[in-house]
Amino acid sequence: MTGKQPHISVADLTLAYGDFVIQRDLNFNIDRGDIFIIMGGSGCGKSTLLRCLVGLKVPTRGQIFYDGVDFWGASDSQHDDLMRRMGILYQSGALWSSMTLAQNVGLPLQEYTRLKPKQIDEIVSFKLSLVGLAGFEDYYPSEISGGMRKRAGLARAMALDPDILFFDEPSAGLDPVSAKLLDDLILEIRDSLGATIVVVTHELASIFAIGSDSIFLDTDTQTMIAGGNPNRLIASSQDTRVQQFLTRGDTFIIGSGRHG
Ligand SMILES: Nc1ncnc2c1ncn2[C@@H]1O[C@H](COP(=O)(O)OP(=O)(O)OP(=O)(O)O)[C@@H](O)[C@H]1O
Ligand SMILES: [Mg+2]
Repeated sequence: MTGKQPHISVADLTLAYGDFVIQRDLNFNIDRGDIFIIMGGSGCGKSTLLRCLVGLKVPTRGQIFYDGVDFWGASDSQHDDLMRRMGILYQSGALWSSMTLAQNVGLPLQEYTRLKPKQIDEIVSFKLSLVGLAGFEDYYPSEISGGMRKRAGLARAMALDPDILFFDEPSAGLDPVSAKLLDDLILEIRDSLGATIVVVTHELASIFAIGSDSIFLDTDTQTMIAGGNPNRLIASSQDTRVQQFLTRGDTFIIGSGRHG
């Protein structure tokens, strides 16, 4: 084999709920240090794919490899080790409302490490400072803004120094300026941690600002119909569905399939 091994490799993956197939025949690689965008219309299966990638849902068919290790075929302990190296910000973004930010961010450290409370406090303060929330340790989620809650969620996702971060719709519900600041933060995190970042989003500004690679999932055909660097994709894709998505329907390519 030549070239470097992808950080994440997805082979012939099919996702279904019972008999209801959501996506099939997914094949793609994610390189180390990429900010990889999973995009597509609402309900196409982006969150479902993310759940399979992070170990919350068993794929119906196919394989997911992390550094060449078969995630769903691995032993329980190997599977757990791989999961331990992931940080996740869910679509609902939920922080525990009855816990302070410090307690929320410290929870994974309490659960998965043997660190002493003082060491945990230090790490928590450091992670909160990375996301611009230094000094907010004792605030409750209800006492801070939506953008700050997202950033606190990022700090929690980063608590265990993950190798891979998964973000499901990180900028949903944020105003454009806060969304831009969050994008800048995601770029900073990638550069400072050297992590691979997988982002589910349909925010076009984010897709073009931070994405280094992508896949586009289509609802009707239930599979990926495009991929690659988003800025190159918009310049080169001849697929009407992809063009319409990436331009919010402002373009129409004559003679290239459906227009609806
Ligand atoms: N637990 C479940 N059981 C059965 N069907 C489900 C379940 N979760 C999601 N689905 C269905 O799977 C499809 C894909 O859902 P999913 O949440 O993955 O889409 P999505 O692309 O993330 O959408 P959005 O952009 O709205 O977040 C939808 O048709 C949804 O109704
Ligand atoms: Mg979703």
